[in-house]
Amino acid sequence: EKGGYDYFMLKEIAEQPKAVADTLLGRIDASGRLTLDEVRIPEPALREIDKIVIVACGTAFHAGMIAKYAIEHWTRVPCEVELASEFRYRDPILDPRTLVVAISQSGETMDTLMALRHAREQGSKVLAICNTNGSTIPRESDAVLYTHAGPEVAVASTKAFLTQLVACYLVALYLGQVRGTKWGDEIYAVIRELSDISKQVEQVLDTMEPVRELARSLKDKNTVLFLGRHVGYPVALEGALKLKELAYMHAEGFAAGELKHGPIALIEEDLPVVVVVPSPRGRSVLHDKIVSNIQEIRARGARTIVIAEEGDQTVVPYADHLISIPATPTLLQPLVATVPLQVFACELATARGNEVDQPRNLAKSVTVE
Ligand code: M6R
Repeated sequence: EKGGYDYFMLKEIAEQPKAVADTLLGRIDASGRLTLDEVRIPEPALREIDKIVIVACGTAFHAGMIAKYAIEHWTRVPCEVELASEFRYRDPILDPRTLVVAISQSGETMDTLMALRHAREQGSKVLAICNTNGSTIPRESDAVLYTHAGPEVAVASTKAFLTQLVACYLVALYLGQVRGTKWGDEIYAVIRELSDISKQVEQVLDTMEPVRELARSLKDKNTVLFLGRHVGYPVALEGALKLKELAYMHAEGFAAGELKHGPIALIEEDLPVVVVVPSPRGRSVLHDKIVSNIQEIRARGARTIVIAEEGDQTVVPYADHLISIPATPTLLQPLVATVPLQVFACELATARGNEVDQPRNLAKSVTVE
């Protein structure tokens, strides 16, 4: 049942190109427009929405953080992302013009379920992004966009995360399409790039041996830090979460811009720091800022592990280890940038003798609050 792999997690990492392609299947028509029939919320109601609130936990929350960048950019609708476990306790402002998006692989996470019940009580519409047919969260939502990752068995979420991202991009682009924004041309260009993205995920998977080797060489370290900016920031958080849950190591993700506000004090000789670098094309300011962050930490002794777009020469002099990923539009980069971090965490856990599919103290689905 593990299909020849030692762990479900390895199998599920390898299944990602297919999971991504399956989640896109049938949702983009021949003319390059999105047809999300499942989003049963009528188009006039979608045009009326004046706020989007995403609720989720753990890895699904990181998908939500990335979705916020995409939604606000493509739709110009304000979007908040909140940990489901915090949401209802702060008396959030919700009304019928708020669209709440609940993201959950299992569809049974109690915190997320309670958050969506609270939202519906306030009259908001709830759209679920879920991987498990007929589970509680989609059943209690107004509409559901299923991710087609197939069953995810390993406790650490991998292919579900990538498909959650795809679903979030689809929702963002669809809202942009329905509402019409000044980004119309960009939206169609991105839909084209998205429909091809599973090949890039495949390409990343084909080049992971050096990442595994690097992971093994770090097995006796106590701490690994992760830095990113823009959508690279949630990717950094996700890389750190994977390492915590699988390798039981101290791992933290930071927004690179926050370094000088505190975290840079943690940098010491030979501390591994993974940095997710945005594309030098597009938002080049972001790129240049992070390159100087890499210089800053390296000057203080950090061992830099740099994830950057192939052909990006500017990072080469400052990267102790360089992990190249294919070029993508900035907002889609998490689909390729997260994969090496999954492989890295899985290999480190194995090297440390940990149980990869069933990390200690964790359950696949958390059905208590
Ligand atoms: O089933 P859900 O997506 O609602 O689960 C949410 C989190 O419990 C889950 O993503 C958790 O953080 C994973 N173990 C992360 O790998």
